[in-house]
Amino acid sequence: MQVSISIDNAATVVPFAGDGPVRGEGFRTIEVLEGSSVTVDAGVIAGIGSKDGGADCVIDATGCTVVPGFVDPHTHLPFFGWRADEDAARLSGLRYETLHKESGGIFRSQRLLAEASDTEVLAFASDMAASMLRKGTTTFETKSGYGLSIDGELRQLRLARDLAVAVPQTVVTTCLAAHACPPDKSEGEWIGEIAETLLPQVASEGLAHAVDIYVESIAFQLEHAARLKTTTDELGLRMRMHADQLEDSQAASFAARWGLQSADHLNHTSLAAVGDIAAGDTAAVLLPGATFTLRQNKKPPARNLIEEGAIVALGTDLNPGTSPIHSMPFAIALACRLYGLRPLEALAAATVNAAYTIGLDVVVGRIVEGRRADLVLLDVPDFESMPYRPDHDAVVAVVCDGELVHVAPGAEERVTR
Ligand code: NIG
Ligand code: FE
Repeated sequence: MQVSISIDNAATVVPFAGDGPVRGEGFRTIEVLEGSSVTVDAGVIAGIGSKDGGADCVIDATGCTVVPGFVDPHTHLPFFGWRADEDAARLSGLRYETLHKESGGIFRSQRLLAEASDTEVLAFASDMAASMLRKGTTTFETKSGYGLSIDGELRQLRLARDLAVAVPQTVVTTCLAAHACPPDKSEGEWIGEIAETLLPQVASEGLAHAVDIYVESIAFQLEHAARLKTTTDELGLRMRMHADQLEDSQAASFAARWGLQSADHLNHTSLAAVGDIAAGDTAAVLLPGATFTLRQNKKPPARNLIEEGAIVALGTDLNPGTSPIHSMPFAIALACRLYGLRPLEALAAATVNAAYTIGLDVVVGRIVEGRRADLVLLDVPDFESMPYRPDHDAVVAVVCDGELVHVAPGAEERVTR
């Protein structure tokens, strides 16, 4: 049952009033309200500034910061099981690419998913979603890409749909059938099957809002992306790209010039490509969890992207191979520490710009009157302090779709019902 909530006397509130993604000058002028309150009624933001003395639930936010619920625009849920032994092998010197070629990596997760029952997969993914909620993620993207056959991909997309129903968060789904090539097919054959057989069905069942492709020497090439672009245009689906993660294949530049929804990873993206991204409306999605996990020295040109006016977003890339990380606060800390984002830039990237990336910018990502009430209360006096203690769980309370869904242990005395 939806109740009215009054979050009172916050030290700071970062609302992101206005429209559209934050970019260019917008990153330099993020408004921070001091000594403010936020009220929620019937599932939506009722007001910002004054308290609601008659609210069913009052939260004392003294000394805390209120921000929009985090939007994770790039996860690989629903997957099943972890691959810790591969990480251990990497820590002793093996490369991700080598493990992938030796039927580990993505193919291993394909087998784990195929061997698990629907119930097992949903239980695993729902537990992950619950942990994400406790870290403040109120919206996230899910993907296929561990099915790697027509039936396997459809199954994973339907599991994503079931997950969306089972969890309180807002969920959108992407089809990443072009994640790895099934060993019995050529890349061209698999891309042809995706375009001709899988995507028409995905579109007619409404199983995904977008299509993604892993452009990399161990996966697919730009010509394959171009083939999928033709199909997604015909079917009215958006398209995204895993771009320049392990080498510079000019993927991000093409993604931008084709006007794709997003180009993700960008570790090896060149400064020339930054200009292409900044000139268009393709979101540049930074995934520092993967950089951290793979111990990549090569970082994306994040400061250039911000300063040249790109729409920079931030996600976890939650997956069992390259980023077993589900916490947006941790991704924010990594983005600041490893990529040089300023805390408020990282916050915009993790909320309003992440919502833009998945086509939900008019639905989630901001604290604006009348909008779906997704809020996170953090025990920091200002957001600048967030990256300082990366392993401190700063999340005090989470409101998702107008409901108080989480109160951290020890913070119960802040809440009066
Ligand atoms: O985003 N880059 C490709 N896909 C994932 C890794 C998937 C896996 O190893 O299972 C990523 O990093
Ligand atoms: Fe990914």
